Amino acid sequence: MNTPVSKIIIAIDGHSSTGKSSFAKAIAAKLGYIYVDSGAMYRAVTLYGLQHGLISDDGKINTKALIAALPDIQIEFRNIDGQNITFLQQVNVEHDIRSIKVSQLVSDVSAIAEVRTHLVHAQQLMGKDKGIVMDGRDIGTVVFPQAELKIFMTADPHVRAKRRYKELVAKGGQVSLQEILQHIIQRDYIDEHRTITPLRKADDALLLDNSHLTLADQMKWFEGIAAKY
Ligand code: DC
Repeated sequence: MNTPVSKIIIAIDGHSSTGKSSFAKAIAAKLGYIYVDSGAMYRAVTLYGLQHGLISDDGKINTKALIAALPDIQIEFRNIDGQNITFLQQVNVEHDIRSIKVSQLVSDVSAIAEVRTHLVHAQQLMGKDKGIVMDGRDIGTVVFPQAELKIFMTADPHVRAKRRYKELVAKGGQVSLQEILQHIIQRDYIDEHRTITPLRKADDALLLDNSHLTLADQMKWFEGIAAKY
């Protein structure tokens, strides 16, 4: 494929369970770019809060203490056997940040303005040399409003629910499709209606509805786009 001649910033935002990270990872691998999962950073801050008693087991956040701890929280990504792994305080937390507990609390943590400012700054530093693909909710609107290429991903909630259902069943989970669909609709609502930086498509982002596209189809679409850079 045509690789963009000069290194650029690629911002990928969109609804939950649209396959943003698989797509972003595939693009990064194709171009030899760094891939950053910004959601993992919000998850890592949440895990830190739980580990240090700044968030209680029943989900009460000591906001003041969590904000004060931000400078001490070390988050980094390391490439291990071709996988992008999240480290918190030098410890591999890739598995722990995906736990149900963290997943339930991360929306509240990501709604704290100071947490957002802190992580946005860290994300901007990661992109200072360009050659980066970052996925999240506010990458094209807040983190890199100057990104050369912005993509906003969406898909029919029913299609997303079916994909998620298959994934969970394959892992041995006992879930109902209806429950997953409700959860997806609820997540979209929360993401789009939160007061601080709600999820929205940047005016100059390209819309990618992958309801009926495989990852290979999406890469083909991307190659057509990348040829213009
Ligand atoms: O993409 P994810 O499910 O791993 O994201 C975890 C949470 O972090 C989710 O509640 C949305 C939030 N998030 C955010 O507010 N801004 C980002 N750039 C990325 C994720």
